[in-house]
Amino acid sequence: MTFPREIDTPSVTILLERVQANIDRVQAIVAGAGIRNRPHIKTHKIPAIARMQIQAGAVGLTCQKLSEAEAFIDAGVTDDILITYNIVGRRKLERLMDLSARVKRLAVVADSEAVLRGISEVALERGRVVPFLVECDTGFGRNGVQTPAAAVALAQYAATLPGVRFEGILTFPVGTDAAKVFLTEALALFKQAGIEVPIVSGGGSPALLKIEDFPMLTEYRAGTYVYNDVMMMASGLARLEDCALQVRATVVSRPSPDRAVVDAGSKILTREQYYVKDFGRIVEYPDAVVSNVTEEHGVIDLSRCERKPEIGEVVNIIPNHCCAVSNMVDNVYVLSQGEVVDVLPVAARGAVW
Ligand SMILES: Cc1ncc(COP(=O)(O)O)c(C=O)c1O
Repeated sequence: MTFPREIDTPSVTILLERVQANIDRVQAIVAGAGIRNRPHIKTHKIPAIARMQIQAGAVGLTCQKLSEAEAFIDAGVTDDILITYNIVGRRKLERLMDLSARVKRLAVVADSEAVLRGISEVALERGRVVPFLVECDTGFGRNGVQTPAAAVALAQYAATLPGVRFEGILTFPVGTDAAKVFLTEALALFKQAGIEVPIVSGGGSPALLKIEDFPMLTEYRAGTYVYNDVMMMASGLARLEDCALQVRATVVSRPSPDRAVVDAGSKILTREQYYVKDFGRIVEYPDAVVSNVTEEHGVIDLSRCERKPEIGEVVNIIPNHCCAVSNMVDNVYVLSQGEVVDVLPVAARGAVW
């Protein structure tokens, strides 16, 4: 296969030059701020793209789930991984120990004594010491200790347990005033308590724009920037021409003058919305929007378009949230200078356990 027109639809393509430019740009932003770059692979889930990130200067990788780390360690991409998810339950802890024996450093997070006790118990049995960061909820309302004092208390508790080693603190997303206040207070309290905090890890692509306001960070975890999407455009991080992942779709119906239907629905575009109202933008028709999706149908609102697509026409859609789209396909088609140059398996597709 040489030309994109030979790719059947719906399918996912990535534009190689844009991926490389996104990687280089963010590496420069993070390194320029004096911070170690540890990109999050949950966006692409592809070892070859992680290699490009490491090649550009990343010090290691971030994975959200244990199974992602397994896929990337199997691929031999790096021997320094951070898993940003509480590992809970005997089976997972056994897998964590198996995995940590295969790399130089496999770090995790914890936000409670119960999570730390679980890790400690199995680490002790296996004769291992697992490095961890205290996850702090600085306003996102997800995992994390709720106060700076609780972060210090958890590190102090860890010091009483075998098999775990406190290495620092982590939050997602960074970039807010609340995150700045939380991290500053936490670091002051750690200092008072005489506890060193070697790593302060921040994350999130939109917050890259504010990285200079967070001089306390030592590591950065961004994921979405590698492809970008409608959300990243809405956040101001990316322009349309920075969006590297596209969903190719064929117009299969024109039921009315202002409506087209394409063969990409929620099973490829997903229904992710977050802070955008519709479900994607169309490269060839900038005034059109994907106004609704059902499983196999994408409904396009053409009411603002002067030019309108015909049945059979292929269009390229920028999804709202590229990370969720990546997880919907077995392979992505890699395009360079208008040609298909590779087909990459999404190695950690479905790796959510
Ligand atoms: C813990 C954690 N770190 C980093 C990231 C990367 O954020 P983004 O995809 O906005 O770059 C995420 C994204 O979900 C996350 O959950």
